[in-house]
Amino acid sequence: MSPKTEIRFKLNGRELQLEVPVTMKTLDLLRERLGLTGTKYACGEGECGACTVQVDGKTVNSCLMYAVDLDGRELLTIEGLRTPQALHPVQQAFVDHGAVQCGFCMPGMIMQANYLIENQPGLTREQAKRGLEGNLCRCTGYTKVLDAVEAVVQSKA
Ligand code: FES
Ligand code: FES
Repeated sequence: MSPKTEIRFKLNGRELQLEVPVTMKTLDLLRERLGLTGTKYACGEGECGACTVQVDGKTVNSCLMYAVDLDGRELLTIEGLRTPQALHPVQQAFVDHGAVQCGFCMPGMIMQANYLIENQPGLTREQAKRGLEGNLCRCTGYTKVLDAVEAVVQSKA
């Protein structure tokens, strides 16, 4: 059994203090321990983006990040984007533009799209396309995803 260590971090705005095995990945902490199953497990190797979350404002693949490295940091997951009253504007735009079919890739895609929109004012369609290259979708195709991203960017202009 792997040794454990205590970590403190902020999860979706809430302070948490936990003991975690040193070999546990952030994705497993979220899904198996904290019941936050919005973040998806697909490749488990940093190739598909399904497990994308934000740590200290930057997107990371949670399947590659050890949970111990969350200590002192701020983690945002798909569950933390919306308010109790409404979907986040990026989530809503994906719904409005029909950018979701099976939905499996969408939490990661939305986390990455949100990161791009927040960090590149006036994000172009081409920039969005390049920025989403690490998020793989098998069924929707990217046209509607890019339509959704473009709509959010335009609503901020
Ligand atoms: S499950 Fe993490 S990148 Fe694919
Ligand atoms: S909506 Fe099914 S994989 Fe993207």
